[in-house]
Amino acid sequence: MSAHAPNAAADEPLTVTLGAEALRTFCRELLQSLGTPESHARCVADSLIAANVRGVDSHGIQMLATYIQQIRAGGLDVAAEGRVEREDGVCLRYHGLNGLGQVVSDRCTDHALRIAGRLGVAVVVANHSNHFGAGAWWGEKLARAGFIGIVMSNACPAVAPWQGRTPILGTNPLCVAVPGRGGAGRWLLDMATTTVALGKVTHAAHLNQPTIPRSWGFLDSNGQPTTDTIAAQRGAPTPIGGYKGSALAMMVEILCAGLSGGAMTTELPVYRTGGDPLGISHSFIAIDPARFLAPGEFEERMDRLAGLVKASEPAPGFDEVLLAGEPEWRCAAVREHSGIPIPVKLWSRLGAIAAELRVHPPSPSVV
Ligand SMILES: NC(=O)c1ccc[n+]([C@@H]2O[C@H](COP(=O)([O-])OP(=O)(O)OC[C@H]3O[C@@H](n4cnc5c(N)ncnc54)[C@H](O)[C@@H]3O)[C@@H](O)[C@H]2O)c1
Repeated sequence: MSAHAPNAAADEPLTVTLGAEALRTFCRELLQSLGTPESHARCVADSLIAANVRGVDSHGIQMLATYIQQIRAGGLDVAAEGRVEREDGVCLRYHGLNGLGQVVSDRCTDHALRIAGRLGVAVVVANHSNHFGAGAWWGEKLARAGFIGIVMSNACPAVAPWQGRTPILGTNPLCVAVPGRGGAGRWLLDMATTTVALGKVTHAAHLNQPTIPRSWGFLDSNGQPTTDTIAAQRGAPTPIGGYKGSALAMMVEILCAGLSGGAMTTELPVYRTGGDPLGISHSFIAIDPARFLAPGEFEERMDRLAGLVKASEPAPGFDEVLLAGEPEWRCAAVREHSGIPIPVKLWSRLGAIAAELRVHPPSPSVV
Protein backbone atom coordinates (compact mmCIF):
# COMPACT_ATOMS: atom_id res chain seq x y z
CA MET A 1 0.00 0.00 0.00
CA SER A 2 1.32 3.40 -0.95
CA ALA A 3 0.40 5.62 1.99
CA HIS A 4 0.91 9.29 2.78
CA ALA A 5 0.24 11.96 5.38
CA PRO A 6 0.78 9.88 8.51
CA ASN A 7 -1.51 10.59 11.43
CA ALA A 8 0.95 11.87 14.04
CA ALA A 9 -1.21 10.69 16.95
CA ALA A 10 -1.84 7.14 15.83
CA ASP A 11 1.08 6.97 13.37
CA GLU A 12 -1.30 5.48 10.81
CA PRO A 13 -1.56 6.60 7.19
CA LEU A 14 -4.39 9.02 6.44
CA THR A 15 -4.40 8.49 2.69
CA VAL A 16 -3.80 5.77 0.14
CA THR A 17 -2.66 6.51 -3.39
CA LEU A 18 -4.24 5.22 -6.59
CA GLY A 19 -3.71 5.91 -10.26
CA ALA A 20 -6.40 7.85 -12.14
CA GLU A 21 -7.15 5.00 -14.56
CA ALA A 22 -7.68 2.48 -11.74
CA LEU A 23 -10.06 4.91 -10.02
CA ARG A 24 -11.97 5.61 -13.24
CA THR A 25 -12.49 1.87 -13.80
CA PHE A 26 -13.59 1.38 -10.17
CA CYS A 27 -16.13 4.25 -10.41
CA ARG A 28 -17.45 2.88 -13.67
CA GLU A 29 -17.82 -0.64 -12.32
CA LEU A 30 -19.64 0.55 -9.20
CA LEU A 31 -22.10 2.56 -11.29
CA GLN A 32 -22.58 -0.26 -13.81
CA SER A 33 -23.30 -2.69 -10.97
CA LEU A 34 -26.31 -0.47 -10.19
CA GLY A 35 -27.64 -0.71 -13.75
CA THR A 36 -26.00 2.41 -15.17
CA PRO A 37 -25.34 2.07 -18.93
CA GLU A 38 -21.62 1.84 -19.68
CA SER A 39 -21.41 5.17 -21.53
CA HIS A 40 -23.23 6.97 -18.69
CA ALA A 41 -21.00 5.36 -16.07
CA ARG A 42 -17.93 6.39 -18.09
CA CYS A 43 -19.18 9.99 -18.29
CA VAL A 44 -19.62 10.23 -14.50
CA ALA A 45 -16.35 8.42 -13.73
CA ASP A 46 -14.32 10.60 -16.12
CA SER A 47 -15.68 13.84 -14.67
CA LEU A 48 -15.25 12.81 -11.02
CA ILE A 49 -11.71 11.50 -11.38
CA ALA A 50 -10.72 14.55 -13.47
CA ALA A 51 -11.67 16.65 -10.42
CA ASN A 52 -9.41 14.50 -8.22
CA VAL A 53 -6.56 14.81 -10.73
CA ARG A 54 -6.95 18.60 -10.58
CA GLY A 55 -6.85 18.52 -6.77
CA VAL A 56 -10.55 19.35 -6.42
CA ASP A 57 -11.12 16.44 -4.02
CA SER A 58 -14.40 17.92 -2.79
CA HIS A 59 -15.91 16.96 -6.17
CA GLY A 60 -14.03 13.80 -7.04
CA ILE A 61 -14.66 10.20 -6.06
CA GLN A 62 -15.92 11.50 -2.70
CA MET A 63 -19.18 12.41 -4.48
CA LEU A 64 -19.65 8.83 -5.69
CA ALA A 65 -20.75 7.54 -2.27
CA THR A 66 -23.49 10.18 -2.26
CA TYR A 67 -24.56 9.39 -5.84
CA ILE A 68 -24.72 5.67 -5.00
CA GLN A 69 -26.84 6.41 -1.94
CA GLN A 70 -29.20 8.43 -4.12
CA ILE A 71 -29.33 5.76 -6.87
CA ARG A 72 -30.00 2.97 -4.36
CA ALA A 73 -32.82 5.01 -2.82
CA GLY A 74 -34.40 5.29 -6.27
CA GLY A 75 -33.76 9.04 -6.38
CA LEU A 76 -32.51 9.22 -9.98
CA ASP A 77 -32.81 7.41 -13.28
CA VAL A 78 -29.37 6.13 -14.28
CA ALA A 79 -30.51 5.29 -17.81
CA ALA A 80 -32.11 8.67 -18.62
CA GLU A 81 -30.42 11.03 -21.10
CA GLY A 82 -32.91 13.89 -21.09
CA ARG A 83 -34.50 15.52 -24.12
CA VAL A 84 -34.68 18.88 -25.85
CA GLU A 85 -37.84 20.65 -24.71
CA ARG A 86 -37.47 23.72 -26.85
CA GLU A 87 -34.97 25.25 -29.29
CA ASP A 88 -35.19 28.75 -30.69
CA GLY A 89 -32.16 30.38 -32.35
CA VAL A 90 -29.27 30.38 -29.88
CA CYS A 91 -31.55 29.28 -27.02
CA LEU A 92 -32.18 25.70 -25.95
CA ARG A 93 -34.09 24.30 -22.98
CA TYR A 94 -33.37 20.73 -21.96
CA HIS A 95 -35.37 18.43 -19.67
CA GLY A 96 -32.98 16.21 -17.72
CA LEU A 97 -35.64 13.54 -17.02
CA ASN A 98 -33.98 13.05 -13.60
CA GLY A 99 -30.89 11.55 -15.27
CA LEU A 100 -27.34 11.67 -13.96
CA GLY A 101 -26.20 15.31 -13.84
CA GLN A 102 -23.05 14.49 -15.79
CA VAL A 103 -24.98 12.79 -18.60
CA VAL A 104 -27.43 15.70 -18.86
CA SER A 105 -24.51 18.18 -18.83
CA ASP A 106 -22.65 16.24 -21.50
CA ARG A 107 -25.67 16.38 -23.81
CA CYS A 108 -26.22 20.08 -23.04
CA THR A 109 -22.60 21.04 -23.73
CA ASP A 110 -22.81 19.14 -27.04
CA HIS A 111 -25.87 21.22 -27.94
CA ALA A 112 -24.06 24.42 -26.86
CA LEU A 113 -21.10 23.53 -29.12
CA ARG A 114 -23.40 22.78 -32.05
CA ILE A 115 -25.39 26.02 -31.71
CA ALA A 116 -22.44 28.33 -30.93
CA GLY A 117 -20.45 26.79 -33.78
CA ARG A 118 -23.21 27.85 -36.16
CA LEU A 119 -24.44 31.10 -34.60
CA GLY A 120 -21.51 32.37 -32.46
CA VAL A 121 -23.23 32.03 -29.12
CA ALA A 122 -25.41 29.49 -27.32
CA VAL A 123 -27.45 29.56 -24.15
CA VAL A 124 -28.49 26.08 -23.05
CA VAL A 125 -30.44 25.62 -19.82
CA ALA A 126 -31.46 22.33 -18.22
CA ASN A 127 -34.03 21.46 -15.59
CA HIS A 128 -34.87 18.19 -13.72
CA SER A 129 -31.21 17.19 -13.57
CA ASN A 130 -28.90 16.08 -10.76
CA HIS A 131 -25.54 17.08 -9.27
CA PHE A 132 -23.06 17.59 -12.14
CA GLY A 133 -19.81 17.50 -10.13
CA ALA A 134 -17.23 20.23 -10.74
CA GLY A 135 -18.26 22.95 -13.19
CA ALA A 136 -14.73 22.96 -14.67
CA TRP A 137 -15.25 19.65 -16.49
CA TRP A 138 -17.99 21.25 -18.59
CA GLY A 139 -16.34 24.68 -18.85
CA GLU A 140 -13.12 23.07 -20.11
CA LYS A 141 -15.03 21.02 -22.68
CA LEU A 142 -16.34 24.29 -24.16
CA ALA A 143 -12.97 26.06 -23.89
CA ARG A 144 -11.07 23.18 -25.53
CA ALA A 145 -13.30 23.71 -28.57
CA GLY A 146 -12.28 27.40 -28.65
CA PHE A 147 -15.32 28.93 -26.92
CA ILE A 148 -15.57 30.96 -23.75
CA GLY A 149 -17.61 28.66 -21.53
CA ILE A 150 -19.82 29.89 -18.72
CA VAL A 151 -21.28 27.08 -16.64
CA MET A 152 -23.55 27.33 -13.62
CA SER A 153 -25.76 25.10 -11.54
CA ASN A 154 -28.12 25.55 -8.68
CA ALA A 155 -27.86 23.16 -5.78
CA CYS A 156 -29.89 21.92 -2.84
CA PRO A 157 -30.53 24.47 -0.08
CA ALA A 158 -27.62 24.76 2.36
CA VAL A 159 -26.75 28.46 2.68
CA ALA A 160 -28.57 31.30 4.39
CA PRO A 161 -28.79 34.43 2.24
CA TRP A 162 -27.00 37.52 3.57
CA GLN A 163 -28.81 38.82 6.66
CA GLY A 164 -30.86 35.60 6.69
CA ARG A 165 -30.81 32.71 9.12
CA THR A 166 -32.43 29.87 7.19
CA PRO A 167 -30.37 27.90 4.64
CA ILE A 168 -32.41 28.36 1.48
CA LEU A 169 -29.77 28.89 -1.23
CA GLY A 170 -27.45 26.29 -2.74
CA THR A 171 -23.67 26.58 -2.93
CA ASN A 172 -24.48 27.37 -6.60
CA PRO A 173 -21.20 26.96 -8.55
CA LEU A 174 -20.04 29.40 -11.19
CA CYS A 175 -17.40 28.48 -13.78
CA VAL A 176 -15.89 30.64 -16.54
CA ALA A 177 -13.41 28.89 -18.83
CA VAL A 178 -11.34 30.90 -21.29
CA PRO A 179 -9.53 29.22 -24.20
CA GLY A 180 -5.85 29.74 -24.94
CA ARG A 181 -3.78 28.84 -27.98
CA GLY A 182 -3.92 25.33 -29.40
CA GLY A 183 -6.90 24.15 -27.36
CA ALA A 184 -5.25 24.76 -24.00
CA GLY A 185 -7.10 26.53 -21.20
CA ARG A 186 -5.94 30.08 -20.39
CA TRP A 187 -8.04 31.08 -17.40
CA LEU A 188 -10.39 28.83 -15.50
CA LEU A 189 -12.49 30.18 -12.69
CA ASP A 190 -14.49 27.44 -11.01
CA MET A 191 -15.96 28.28 -7.65
CA ALA A 192 -18.80 27.75 -5.26
CA THR A 193 -20.61 31.00 -4.46
CA THR A 194 -19.90 30.15 -0.83
CA THR A 195 -16.45 30.83 0.61
CA VAL A 196 -15.51 27.25 -0.25
CA ALA A 197 -17.42 24.19 -1.48
CA LEU A 198 -19.27 22.17 1.18
CA GLY A 199 -17.33 19.06 0.18
CA LYS A 200 -14.07 20.61 1.43
CA VAL A 201 -15.30 20.09 5.00
CA THR A 202 -16.24 16.48 4.23
CA HIS A 203 -12.74 15.99 2.82
CA ALA A 204 -11.20 17.51 5.97
CA ALA A 205 -13.32 15.15 8.10
CA HIS A 206 -12.17 12.19 6.00
CA LEU A 207 -8.59 13.26 6.78
CA ASN A 208 -9.38 13.43 10.53
CA GLN A 209 -8.55 17.14 10.56
CA PRO A 210 -10.09 18.49 13.81
CA THR A 211 -10.22 22.08 12.51
CA ILE A 212 -10.76 23.93 9.24
CA PRO A 213 -9.38 27.38 8.36
CA ARG A 214 -11.43 30.31 9.68
CA SER A 215 -11.26 31.75 6.14
CA TRP A 216 -13.60 28.94 4.99
CA GLY A 217 -16.37 30.93 6.70
CA PHE A 218 -18.44 28.13 8.21
CA LEU A 219 -21.15 28.59 10.83
CA ASP A 220 -22.15 26.02 13.46
CA SER A 221 -25.77 24.94 13.90
CA ASN A 222 -26.35 28.01 16.14
CA GLY A 223 -25.24 30.33 13.34
CA GLN A 224 -21.92 31.14 15.04
CA PRO A 225 -18.59 31.14 13.13
CA THR A 226 -16.70 27.89 13.70
CA THR A 227 -13.39 26.27 12.83
CA ASP A 228 -14.44 22.92 14.33
CA THR A 229 -14.73 20.38 11.50
CA ILE A 230 -17.62 18.41 13.01
CA ALA A 231 -19.51 21.57 14.00
CA ALA A 232 -19.01 22.90 10.45
CA GLN A 233 -20.36 19.64 8.98
CA ARG A 234 -23.49 20.04 11.08
CA GLY A 235 -23.66 23.76 10.31
CA ALA A 236 -23.55 25.69 7.04
CA PRO A 237 -21.23 27.60 4.71
CA THR A 238 -21.63 31.34 4.17
CA PRO A 239 -21.90 33.28 0.90
CA ILE A 240 -18.56 34.50 -0.45
CA GLY A 241 -18.01 38.18 0.37
CA GLY A 242 -21.29 38.64 2.28
CA TYR A 243 -24.13 40.21 0.34
CA LYS A 244 -22.18 40.06 -2.93
CA GLY A 245 -21.89 36.26 -2.77
CA SER A 246 -25.52 36.04 -1.80
CA ALA A 247 -26.35 38.01 -4.95
CA LEU A 248 -24.06 35.83 -7.08
CA ALA A 249 -25.88 32.73 -5.78
CA MET A 250 -29.15 34.41 -6.76
CA MET A 251 -27.72 35.20 -10.20
CA VAL A 252 -26.89 31.51 -10.67
CA GLU A 253 -30.36 30.54 -9.41
CA ILE A 254 -31.97 32.95 -11.90
CA LEU A 255 -29.85 31.87 -14.90
CA CYS A 256 -30.34 28.15 -14.12
CA ALA A 257 -33.66 27.45 -12.43
CA GLY A 258 -35.33 30.78 -13.18
CA LEU A 259 -34.63 30.56 -16.90
CA SER A 260 -35.20 26.81 -17.33
CA GLY A 261 -38.48 26.65 -15.43
CA GLY A 262 -36.82 24.31 -12.88
CA ALA A 263 -37.11 24.04 -9.10
CA MET A 264 -35.85 27.12 -7.21
CA THR A 265 -34.13 27.19 -3.79
CA THR A 266 -36.41 25.43 -1.27
CA GLU A 267 -38.40 23.79 -4.09
CA LEU A 268 -35.36 21.48 -4.20
CA PRO A 269 -35.08 18.85 -1.46
CA VAL A 270 -32.20 18.96 0.99
CA TYR A 271 -29.37 16.99 -0.61
CA ARG A 272 -28.71 13.39 0.52
CA THR A 273 -32.30 12.69 1.45
CA GLY A 274 -32.23 9.86 -1.04
CA GLY A 275 -35.46 9.02 -2.82
CA ASP A 276 -36.70 12.45 -3.86
CA PRO A 277 -35.64 13.67 -7.32
CA LEU A 278 -33.34 16.66 -6.79
CA GLY A 279 -34.63 18.71 -9.73
CA ILE A 280 -31.36 20.58 -10.21
CA SER A 281 -30.99 23.12 -13.04
CA HIS A 282 -27.87 24.04 -15.00
CA SER A 283 -26.87 26.68 -17.50
CA PHE A 284 -24.23 26.37 -20.26
CA ILE A 285 -23.26 29.46 -22.23
CA ALA A 286 -20.78 29.27 -25.12
CA ILE A 287 -19.33 32.34 -26.83
CA ASP A 288 -17.16 32.18 -29.95
CA PRO A 289 -14.44 34.88 -29.66
CA ALA A 290 -13.74 34.59 -33.40
CA ARG A 291 -17.12 36.25 -34.05
CA PHE A 292 -15.81 39.39 -32.34
CA LEU A 293 -12.12 39.46 -33.30
CA ALA A 294 -9.89 38.09 -36.05
CA PRO A 295 -9.14 34.35 -35.70
CA GLY A 296 -6.49 33.86 -32.99
CA GLU A 297 -6.61 37.49 -31.85
CA PHE A 298 -8.58 36.72 -28.69
CA GLU A 299 -6.12 34.00 -27.64
CA GLU A 300 -3.23 36.47 -28.24
CA ARG A 301 -5.00 39.10 -26.15
CA MET A 302 -5.57 36.55 -23.37
CA ASP A 303 -1.84 35.75 -23.39
CA ARG A 304 -1.11 39.46 -23.04
CA LEU A 305 -3.66 39.89 -20.26
CA ALA A 306 -2.29 36.87 -18.39
CA GLY A 307 1.24 38.21 -18.86
CA LEU A 308 0.29 41.61 -17.43
CA VAL A 309 -1.24 39.99 -14.35
CA LYS A 310 1.57 37.48 -13.87
CA ALA A 311 4.19 40.25 -14.17
CA SER A 312 2.65 42.20 -11.30
CA GLU A 313 4.60 42.30 -8.04
CA PRO A 314 3.62 39.64 -5.48
CA ALA A 315 2.44 40.84 -2.07
CA PRO A 316 4.66 40.17 0.96
CA GLY A 317 4.55 36.45 1.82
CA PHE A 318 3.87 35.34 -1.77
CA ASP A 319 6.25 34.27 -4.56
CA GLU A 320 3.97 35.01 -7.47
CA VAL A 321 0.54 36.15 -8.59
CA LEU A 322 -1.56 33.20 -9.75
CA LEU A 323 -4.29 33.06 -12.36
CA ALA A 324 -7.50 31.14 -11.70
CA GLY A 325 -6.94 27.61 -12.98
CA GLU A 326 -3.19 27.55 -12.32
CA PRO A 327 -3.34 25.78 -8.93
CA GLU A 328 -5.41 22.96 -10.44
CA TRP A 329 -3.38 22.63 -13.66
CA ARG A 330 -0.20 22.38 -11.58
CA CYS A 331 -1.77 19.76 -9.34
CA ALA A 332 -2.88 17.78 -12.41
CA ALA A 333 0.67 17.77 -13.79
CA VAL A 334 1.80 16.05 -10.57
CA ARG A 335 -1.15 13.72 -9.93
CA GLU A 336 -1.26 12.42 -13.50
CA HIS A 337 2.10 10.80 -12.76
CA SER A 338 2.21 10.23 -9.03
CA GLY A 339 -1.43 9.25 -8.47
CA ILE A 340 -4.29 10.54 -6.35
CA PRO A 341 -4.24 10.48 -2.56
CA ILE A 342 -7.57 9.23 -1.22
CA PRO A 343 -8.41 9.53 2.49
CA VAL A 344 -8.34 6.10 4.16
CA LYS A 345 -11.74 6.83 5.71
CA LEU A 346 -13.27 7.45 2.28
CA TRP A 347 -11.50 4.44 0.77
CA SER A 348 -12.89 2.18 3.54
CA ARG A 349 -16.38 3.55 2.95
CA LEU A 350 -16.10 2.91 -0.79
CA GLY A 351 -14.66 -0.53 -0.07
CA ALA A 352 -17.72 -1.42 2.03
CA ILE A 353 -20.05 -0.24 -0.75
CA ALA A 354 -18.01 -2.20 -3.31
CA ALA A 355 -18.31 -5.37 -1.20
CA GLU A 356 -22.10 -4.96 -1.08
CA LEU A 357 -22.18 -4.48 -4.85
CA ARG A 358 -19.68 -7.32 -5.50
CA VAL A 359 -17.20 -5.00 -7.21
CA HIS A 360 -13.47 -5.50 -6.61
CA PRO A 361 -11.69 -2.28 -5.64
CA PRO A 362 -8.26 -1.72 -7.19
CA SER A 363 -5.18 -2.17 -5.04
CA PRO A 364 -4.06 1.18 -3.60
CA SER A 365 -0.48 0.46 -4.67
CA VAL A 366 -1.46 0.60 -8.36
CA VAL A 367 -0.45 4.09 -9.54
N1 LIG B 1 -22.19 20.81 -8.42
C1 LIG B 1 -22.40 21.58 -7.39
O1 LIG B 1 -23.49 21.66 -6.89
C2 LIG B 1 -21.26 22.39 -6.80
C3 LIG B 1 -21.54 23.30 -5.79
C4 LIG B 1 -20.48 24.05 -5.28
C5 LIG B 1 -19.19 23.88 -5.77
N2 LIG B 1 -18.98 22.98 -6.75
C6 LIG B 1 -17.62 22.76 -7.26
O2 LIG B 1 -16.71 22.77 -6.17
C7 LIG B 1 -15.42 22.99 -6.67
C8 LIG B 1 -14.60 23.75 -5.67
O3 LIG B 1 -15.14 25.05 -5.44
P1 LIG B 1 -14.40 26.05 -4.42
O4 LIG B 1 -15.15 27.33 -4.40
O5 LIG B 1 -14.16 25.35 -3.13
O6 LIG B 1 -12.99 26.23 -5.17
P2 LIG B 1 -11.66 26.95 -4.67
O7 LIG B 1 -11.98 27.96 -3.64
O8 LIG B 1 -10.66 25.91 -4.34
O9 LIG B 1 -11.14 27.68 -6.00
C9 LIG B 1 -11.95 28.65 -6.64
C10 LIG B 1 -11.20 29.28 -7.81
O10 LIG B 1 -10.14 30.08 -7.31
C11 LIG B 1 -8.96 29.83 -8.06
N3 LIG B 1 -7.81 30.04 -7.18
C12 LIG B 1 -7.46 29.31 -6.10
N4 LIG B 1 -6.37 29.83 -5.52
C13 LIG B 1 -6.02 30.91 -6.24
C14 LIG B 1 -4.98 31.89 -6.13
N5 LIG B 1 -4.09 31.84 -5.14
N6 LIG B 1 -4.93 32.88 -7.05
C15 LIG B 1 -5.85 32.94 -8.06
N7 LIG B 1 -6.87 32.05 -8.21
C16 LIG B 1 -6.95 31.06 -7.30
C17 LIG B 1 -9.06 28.41 -8.52
O11 LIG B 1 -8.28 28.19 -9.67
C18 LIG B 1 -10.56 28.30 -8.78
O12 LIG B 1 -10.86 28.71 -10.09
C19 LIG B 1 -15.63 23.64 -8.03
O13 LIG B 1 -15.23 22.70 -9.00
C20 LIG B 1 -17.13 23.86 -8.14
O14 LIG B 1 -17.66 23.73 -9.45
C21 LIG B 1 -19.99 22.24 -7.29
